[in-house]
Amino acid sequence: MKAITLEKFGGVENFKIQNLPMPTISENEVLVKVKAFSVNPVDVKTRVGGSLAKELENDPPIILGWDISGTIEEVGANVTNFKVGDEVFGMVKFGQSAKAYAEYVAAPADHLALKPANITHPQAAASTLAALTAWQALTYFGKLKQNDTILIHAAAGGVGHFAVQIAKHLGANVIGTSSEKNKEFVLSLGANEHIDYRSTKFEDVVSDIDFVLETMGYENFGRSIDVLKPTGTIINLPSGLSDEVKAKAIQKGVNANFFMTVFSDSHDINTIASLLQSNILTPYISHQYSFEEIGAAHTQMESGSTVGKIVVLV
Ligand SMILES: NC(=O)c1ccc[n+]([C@@H]2O[C@H](COP(=O)([O-])OP(=O)(O)OC[C@H]3O[C@@H](n4cnc5c(N)ncnc54)[C@H](OP(=O)(O)O)[C@@H]3O)[C@@H](O)[C@H]2O)c1
Repeated sequence: MKAITLEKFGGVENFKIQNLPMPTISENEVLVKVKAFSVNPVDVKTRVGGSLAKELENDPPIILGWDISGTIEEVGANVTNFKVGDEVFGMVKFGQSAKAYAEYVAAPADHLALKPANITHPQAAASTLAALTAWQALTYFGKLKQNDTILIHAAAGGVGHFAVQIAKHLGANVIGTSSEKNKEFVLSLGANEHIDYRSTKFEDVVSDIDFVLETMGYENFGRSIDVLKPTGTIINLPSGLSDEVKAKAIQKGVNANFFMTVFSDSHDINTIASLLQSNILTPYISHQYSFEEIGAAHTQMESGSTVGKIVVLV
């Protein structure tokens, strides 16, 4: 099978398409023939030697990727919930080496859900890590309640565009930030209000926020503490917060999660599937690439200005 290996951590020139032996499955796994996978900021961070680089290095050859959609080709002895031919999607083995930039992936059955018939494989591949992150941030790491006001930073991005839709579904009042060019997109997702972070400091126009989904890190986290109610919740996605901003959150007494980590979960991916099926959640794919264009996909991801999701067709 074809797979995209990384010869060493660093630039996109280290990607190489290679022929490798087919993966073998354990008794709780299925073999998925991948139709599409999605690319996330963590892929880029790992490619340059951060995030999950150690986990991948310990399982050579180095192959990135966790988000897949495809068709089941083989089923492990203990798997009862899927059969050969089923169309499935999911975030596979996040935190470990899943080797998802490949034509075939060995996936734990409980990391997958049936792909809803109303969406395509690229759409399903897009609705994995980013959608699970938004869902788990708002319902597990924090508990967004009906009529809460939530501030979602980077509302036009991969996580943000799902978070806006999920927050609306949960009955919240949504304020989303992005640059002006993505204002209409953010409002079209269901946000009640939009803030152009380039022309307006959000702390000048909002206060008494119940929940902040903090997707930028660094000083953005500290400024977000200022707009929270004393009983508010802030969930941070990027790693690397300073001790100073952490102390600020602790001092204010807000419910702060300094670095949530999304996890593969059967119940949650099935919830995402049902939200997709009922059109409560709609993924937006701004960039679609071929297998051979993986370098361009990473360069786009690295730009920090991707709208919605990036998907690679296999
Ligand atoms: N801890 C976890 O489990 C976890 C899970 C998922 C993601 N993450 C992290 O969360 C972060 C966001 O992930 P993502 O997939 O949503 O990223 P993404 O898709 O690359 O986000 C891109 C978006 O960020 C917006 N943006 C850039 N600077 C901004 C600013 N100062 N204020 C508001 N929006 C801004 C851009 O909008 P404009 O073009 O309009 O500026 C763009 O639409 C990344 O650091 C990622 O690694 C962590």
